[in-house]
Amino acid sequence: MQATQHAEPRLESADESAGESAHSTAAHGTDGTDPDAQYDFMVVSNRLPVDRCSPDEPGCEDGWRRSPGGLVTALAPMMAKTDGAWVGWHGAPDEHLQPFSHGGIDLVPVQLSTHDIELFYEGFSNATLWPLYHDVIAPPEFHRKWWDSYRKVNRRFADAVIHHAAAGATVWVQDYQLQLVPKMLREARPDLKIGFFNHIPFPPPEIFAQLPWRRAIIDGLLGADLVGFQRSSDAGNFMRSARRFLGASVKQQQVHVKGSDGQTTHIARAQAFPISIDVKQISELAQKPEIIERAQQIRRDLGNPKTILLGVDRLDYTKGIRHRLKAYEELLADGKVTVEGATLIQVASPSRERVEQYRLLREEVEGTVGHINGTYDTMQNTAVRYLHHSYPIEEMVALYLAADVMLVTALRDGMNLVAKEYVTARTKNDGALVLSEFAGAADQLKQALLMNPHDIDGLKDTIMRAVDMQPAEAARRMRAMRKQILDHDVDLWSSDFLNALKEKVVRDDS
Ligand code: F6P
Repeated sequence: MQATQHAEPRLESADESAGESAHSTAAHGTDGTDPDAQYDFMVVSNRLPVDRCSPDEPGCEDGWRRSPGGLVTALAPMMAKTDGAWVGWHGAPDEHLQPFSHGGIDLVPVQLSTHDIELFYEGFSNATLWPLYHDVIAPPEFHRKWWDSYRKVNRRFADAVIHHAAAGATVWVQDYQLQLVPKMLREARPDLKIGFFNHIPFPPPEIFAQLPWRRAIIDGLLGADLVGFQRSSDAGNFMRSARRFLGASVKQQQVHVKGSDGQTTHIARAQAFPISIDVKQISELAQKPEIIERAQQIRRDLGNPKTILLGVDRLDYTKGIRHRLKAYEELLADGKVTVEGATLIQVASPSRERVEQYRLLREEVEGTVGHINGTYDTMQNTAVRYLHHSYPIEEMVALYLAADVMLVTALRDGMNLVAKEYVTARTKNDGALVLSEFAGAADQLKQALLMNPHDIDGLKDTIMRAVDMQPAEAARRMRAMRKQILDHDVDLWSSDFLNALKEKVVRDDS
């Protein structure tokens, strides 16, 4: 593991870098990272683990903060222990950076212009693929310009890998923003071992069928030796689409991929690898006296209500925040919970704020919270404590410790690592988890109170079961869930995937 260092990467304006290759002629970046270094192991994702920020933003240190989302939560601990490199975007438009090192990880930044962000990131990734892959909760938009940009940006990520990958290197491509990269790598560098992991759901072929570029996406993914998914149903959906839209012959979740000469180039496999969390980090934080004290402080600050309920989400329409608020408002109206006896803390971290659906969601959520609080708050007590911020992990763990009931009401979610973090933080085996059956985590956390968030009456009943749960039942459930997560942490997830990627696959050309 390399030493942790805070990098001062060399900056170039977009104008300065125009016309230059992505890699400057400078021998090394200012922090000593070789801009032409070659790596035996590379992770590629749309975002790097750190994101540009301005010093006045919470959690911003030396111009960087941790990137949002479960992908970074899962991969950062593994990357900090390897000598590989992470290729991705650093979160600022039009800023060209040299490779640099941060938190002990070598980072290879990929530049995105304002135009790329609009078309590739906000457009195709987050207004076409995201809603399409999440049960079309919001209507996906299909624009050819967005698709063109998606192809170009995927090519840029692939080129960065091609430049930095040592002969025979293992490359692990992440998530729906980069589905064309595996094939691009295969064509340019057949020597590489290529893995892909989709952090979000893969839709059934009946929904995937809407995508005008469905064949190219499947073809792009089949460039990988191993395509990993959160749930086995996602892997099944992908293989059914490969069969239906590319005519691939699928046997035991394997496809013999053929080149233009009709010869088999490789065997692509699809399999589920449910992602997890850094159990050690969360457990250790949960036992620190200052974090336990902070949790007690949170309770005191809220007026010591009998029950604290907690929701923690990116402010995304897939998370079911509106359904949760509706259920909670009705419970207040029914008198089943009172503002004196209970507080709902809703942390909604800012996300994709320039995408229309996200703007609308924010207005709606904030309007609803205002309405609930206007109706039920007293001078001393608040019904919903709404926080539109991201918090460092220490504060999140304090919140998990303060909360008697955790509400995860996603309408569709690849996994939901917040559910796993909450369970891991409950080292005393108390507390209750209300968990949507549409989150991938429901496959592993079977002792949660599982429910369908579309069924508001069912959701209300489940919340009340959690609020009223007897300690013995809570302990029985929590113990079983904790065991599951403690036995399946994120290290096991990454090593399972990478071991499966290394496996020799026997060709059966019959
Ligand atoms: O896991 C889903 C995911 O889209 C990741 O790819 C991403 O890093 C995270 O959620 C946060 O989303 P965004 O990068 O769009 O802010």
